[in-house]
Amino acid sequence: MSPDQASAWRLDGRRAVITGGSSGIGLSLAHELAGLGADLVLVARDPERLEQARLSVSGQFPERQIDVRPADLARAEDRERLAEAIDGPVHVLVNNAGINIRKPVSELSLEEYERVQAVNLTACFDLCRRLLPRLRESAPACVVNNASVAGLTHLRTGAPYGVSKAGLIQLTRNLAVEWAADDIRVNAVAPWYIATPLANQVLSDPAYRESVLARTPMKRVGRVEECARAMAFLCLPAASYITGHCLSVDGGFSVYGF
Ligand SMILES: NC(=O)c1ccc[n+]([C@@H]2O[C@H](COP(=O)([O-])OP(=O)(O)OC[C@H]3O[C@@H](n4cnc5c(N)ncnc54)[C@H](OP(=O)(O)O)[C@@H]3O)[C@@H](O)[C@H]2O)c1
Repeated sequence: MSPDQASAWRLDGRRAVITGGSSGIGLSLAHELAGLGADLVLVARDPERLEQARLSVSGQFPERQIDVRPADLARAEDRERLAEAIDGPVHVLVNNAGINIRKPVSELSLEEYERVQAVNLTACFDLCRRLLPRLRESAPACVVNNASVAGLTHLRTGAPYGVSKAGLIQLTRNLAVEWAADDIRVNAVAPWYIATPLANQVLSDPAYRESVLARTPMKRVGRVEECARAMAFLCLPAASYITGHCLSVDGGFSVYGF
């Protein structure tokens, strides 16, 4: 492999901010990006879980700088404080934190609808906006948004979640075009079921799991590292001509018509 080829698959000297970096896909991505050479800032609410995440990534990659920043991304004041506290370069911003409140529309309160939008969509919009100066200074830079196949079609996950993820996919396209001139790429992934604490809330029901597998051509749910590696690819110089794209990570779910 030539030095040019090798550097296309590395993130040495780069710094990535990962929201929701203390669990599931975000934690797996933290290990993945640190393995590729990046320093990290991990963001989530629970400081203890964040510290455990920091210890686990530092334990595997002691030469990396791993910072943690507790913040509730649903709160505008926390987002403002977070953006101010992140000094130094930001080459990669991963908007990964997400929640769901699973109910039919007829049973949802407006407050529940707004809580899902606040974490899944508004926080992403606001963090992108607030960290734009850092991304510009650090360019070439990139943003990766963790959406969902629920943003592409109806799923049993409920409307607020689907609406927030569809919004995230469209925000990805708009930002990609607006920020291309700043040498900032913006992409998204759309996972189907990935085995994490969030998904296990429903996959632990054997009948539900069976119906998920029946709709999945690959007949299994995804592993966290399979989603994390797809996201890591979009962060790499190897993806330098890809922007505005939403990559399905779904075992074939989104192309399975019948
Ligand atoms: N797993 C799947 O099957 C699947 C499929 C499609 C899309 N996704 C998307 O993938 C992303 C990650 O999901 P996951 O399955 O890895 O979930 P997870 O294991 O539940 O992790 C969620 C992460 O987000 C953080 N978080 C939640 N609310 C937050 C808030 N208000 N402020 C800051 N951080 C917050 C959590 O930490 P704290 O609780 O400490 O804040 C945690 O680190 C989500 O956006 C989800 O919608 C997942």
